[in-house]
Amino acid sequence: MRLYKKRNDIQGFITHLQDKKQEIGFVPTMGALHAGHISLIRTARQQSDFTVCSIFVNPTQFNDPKDLQKYPRTIEKDLYLLEQHGCDAVFYPEVAEVYPPGSGPAPHYDLGRLESILEGAYRPGHFQGVADVVSRLFYTIHPDKVFFGQKDLQQCRVIERLIAGNPDFDKIRMNIVPTLREPDGLAMSSRNTRLSPEELRKAPEIYQTLLYLKEQLAPGDLAPLQETAKTRLTREGFRPDYVSIVDTQTLETCGSWNGHTPLTGLVAAYLGEVRLIDNLELV
Ligand code: PAF
Repeated sequence: MRLYKKRNDIQGFITHLQDKKQEIGFVPTMGALHAGHISLIRTARQQSDFTVCSIFVNPTQFNDPKDLQKYPRTIEKDLYLLEQHGCDAVFYPEVAEVYPPGSGPAPHYDLGRLESILEGAYRPGHFQGVADVVSRLFYTIHPDKVFFGQKDLQQCRVIERLIAGNPDFDKIRMNIVPTLREPDGLAMSSRNTRLSPEELRKAPEIYQTLLYLKEQLAPGDLAPLQETAKTRLTREGFRPDYVSIVDTQTLETCGSWNGHTPLTGLVAAYLGEVRLIDNLELV
């Protein structure tokens, strides 16, 4: 497995691969890798000639500095896992390599309403930070295919918009890889490592709530169902930011369902100090 810390170095090697008509699959991550990330790597390997993973804890997407500070950093273990699972190259730059000093303020990305709904409403600036770092990474790696996890569905919609809005990213094909779950239904996430044993026991209730939405979904007014689901989580000791039933494509809240539009349920809730998110296609 090749290791790169410098943009110019990985770019040089990628140009050489592209001259040989190799298709580059790219999995951007912030490290603290788990089985969910490995399933992205596996999918990328199946669909590309050469798989690159980036590990970079991006400071600009953390609206809470404490969250950035506490973000788990496990580079040795990450590199070991990536090597074990056949990743071809890893890009793990320092902050100054991605954001060179003096390079000026980040551009503003037009993310439409995606920026202010759901996660956007609770994490101001988060998706601008994601769009900026992913854009910088795309300009470095020049991938043909990119792989993102469905657990961060809103992030996936942001990336789709980023690709569609920039002719330089025309050739990039977006792939959304299904969420990997623990046997009890808890969506795999780097944040799960911060849960206490007691919280780990409770955390699968988020998935149970999503299943409840799926079971109870019926045409008509959806507000009562969302309210009941939220109350259920609160009763179990969560502090929910939202339980929303949305149009799967636009992620706009669906007040009333016509029985046809594809819908997804999304949850964001605190369990103790840890904020968990998850989602499930309802129909
Ligand atoms: O999903 C993540 O880990 C991050 O948001 C990403 C896409 C690597 C950008 O920093």
